[in-house]
Amino acid sequence: MKTEFIKLDPACPDETMVRRAGEILKAGGLVAFPTETVYGLGGDALNPEASRKIYAAKGRPSDNPLIVHIADMDHLYPIARRVPESALRLAEVWWPGPLTMIFEKTDLVPYETSGGLDTVAVRMPNNSIALALIAASGGYIAAPSANTSGRPSPTTAEHVLGDLDGKIEMILDGGSVRIGLESTIVDFTEEVPVILRPGYVNRDKLEAVLGEVRMDPGLTDEGATAGLRPKAPGMRYRHYAPRAALTIVEGEEDRVVAKINALVREDEARGLKCGVIAPTESAGRYEARDVKNIGSLANDKEIASHLFRVLREFDDDGVDRIYSEAFNTPRMGDAIMNRLLKAAGHQIIEA
Ligand code: TXA
Ligand code: MG
Repeated sequence: MKTEFIKLDPACPDETMVRRAGEILKAGGLVAFPTETVYGLGGDALNPEASRKIYAAKGRPSDNPLIVHIADMDHLYPIARRVPESALRLAEVWWPGPLTMIFEKTDLVPYETSGGLDTVAVRMPNNSIALALIAASGGYIAAPSANTSGRPSPTTAEHVLGDLDGKIEMILDGGSVRIGLESTIVDFTEEVPVILRPGYVNRDKLEAVLGEVRMDPGLTDEGATAGLRPKAPGMRYRHYAPRAALTIVEGEEDRVVAKINALVREDEARGLKCGVIAPTESAGRYEARDVKNIGSLANDKEIASHLFRVLREFDDDGVDRIYSEAFNTPRMGDAIMNRLLKAAGHQIIEA
C-alpha cells in the first residue's frame, strides 16, 4: 500500500484534505493524525474491521483496547453507559485535552474496539486537525498511539512514517506534538475514580476537580512487588523500548554522575557504544560520547515532551547501552517515570 503523507497547517487545516481523510476512515481505512499528546493511528471506532486493521498495522495484541476519540460532548452518550456527574465536571475542565475517561460501554462499541472488555475509553483531543478529522469521519475515531507496538510513541509525523509507511492509507502531518506523553487515563467504573495511566493531568489536578482519586495499585512499586497487574492492559506490556538496554540510575546528583560515568567507562572498554540521558543541569558532567540533554529539571514539561524523541534518536545512533537519570519532578514526574521505567523494563539501580 502507498501511504500518502499530507502536511497540514494546524492553525487552519485544509478542508478538502480533511474531508478526504474523513472519507478514508468512513470507508474502513486508516489515517494517522496529530493530537496534543502523541500521534494517533485512527480508524472508524464503530467498524470492527477497522479496529482489526489497527491491531494488524501496529502488530498489537488484540486484547489491548483502543481509545475512542470524539469531538463533541453529544457523542459521549451513545457509547458510554452511566456517565457520573464527577466525570462531566472533569470533562468541563479538561476536554478537549490530554485526558481519557473509562465508562461502561454500550452495544454501539464493537468488542474489537474495546479489546473484548465491557468498558470503553473515551477522549476528546485538543488539536484542531484531530477535531476536524473526527467530525469529518462520522464522529468516532479509535486511535492508539501511531507507533509499531513496543516502540516509543510518535511525537512527529516522521516517527509515524518510520514505523507505519506502506501499512496505512494516510498520515496527516501537523508538526511536533505539544505534550509528548500519552493522555492521563481515569477509570470511572469504580466507586472512587482510579488513575490507570499517569499523564499531563496529574493527580493534584484531578483531585482539584474530583476530590478523592486513587492510583491503580498495579502501577505502584509496592503493587508490582506484590504481583498486582495494572488494570489497563496496555500498561502490562514492555513498551516504549529503545533497541538498546536502558538502565535508570537514581540518587543524589554527584553519586549518579559518578556511577553512570563508571558504568560507561566499563562498557566502552568492552567496545560497547553508550548513551546517556541527562537534564540540562548535569548533562555537561558526563563522559560518554552520546549524551542527550533532555531539558531542564526546572521545566519538566520540556523533559516530558522530549522523552520519546530521545529514545528514538538512540535507536538511530545505534548505541548498545543507555543510562538515564531518574526524573522524579513534582509536576510531570509520575508520567515521565512511568514511561521511563517501562522503557527500561524496570531496570533501576541506586547510585
Ligand atoms: O494520548 C493518548 O491517549 C493517545 C492519543 C493518540 O490519543 N492514545 C493512546 O492510545 O495512548 P494507546 O492505545 O497507545 O493507549 C491506550 C491505553 C492502553 O494502555 C489500553 O490498554 C488502555 O488505554 N485502555 C483502553 N481502553 C481501556 C479500557 N476500557 N479499560 C482499561 N484500559 C483501557
Ligand atoms: Mg501506545
